[in-house]
Amino acid sequence: MNELNIVMRFLHIISGIALLGGAIAWRFAVVPSTAALAPDVRSKLGNAMAAAWRPVFFSAAAGLLLSGIFNYMNKGNVPPLWHALIGVKFLLVLHVFAVGFIVTGPNNEKRSRQLTGIVISGVVIVILGAVLRSLSAA
Ligand code: HEM
Repeated sequence: MNELNIVMRFLHIISGIALLGGAIAWRFAVVPSTAALAPDVRSKLGNAMAAAWRPVFFSAAAGLLLSGIFNYMNKGNVPPLWHALIGVKFLLVLHVFAVGFIVTGPNNEKRSRQLTGIVISGVVIVILGAVLRSLSAA
């Protein structure tokens, strides 16, 4: 394993932590703890959070895409099941990126539900990451 592989693996993991961890904290810490606020205050706070988290989300998505493509292109001999599972992973990643884009936009009443969707897809992606790695680490 050369140094660039290590850097790209680090970038993939740190970006995944930032994106999925941010969504989990927002959905399970911020949403419940702000539920009792007056609707207009909650809406302002939600918009401020979305604006503040947007650059983190975009940076993490860019880091995942860059390191993911690098990792993908550097995989040697992998079994057919690996290709099948990475295809499923790409679809779920598309879901996370698209919904993350919507969640970080302003005036969104459905953020909580959308964050739940990101968390579910994100957890399945990480499970797939673990399986993919064991399939390709022969
Ligand atoms: C929400 C976005 C994503 C998350 C949470 C995520 C998560 C993970 C995790 C946890 C691993 C295992 C890391 C390891 O053990 O080294 C992994 C591996 C991998 N990911 Fe991602 N990933 C995401 C997006 C992407 C994207 C966009 C691509 C490609 C364009 C990609 C391609 C890969 C590849 C090729 C591997 C290596 C699999 C193997 O070792 O056989 N990932 N990902």
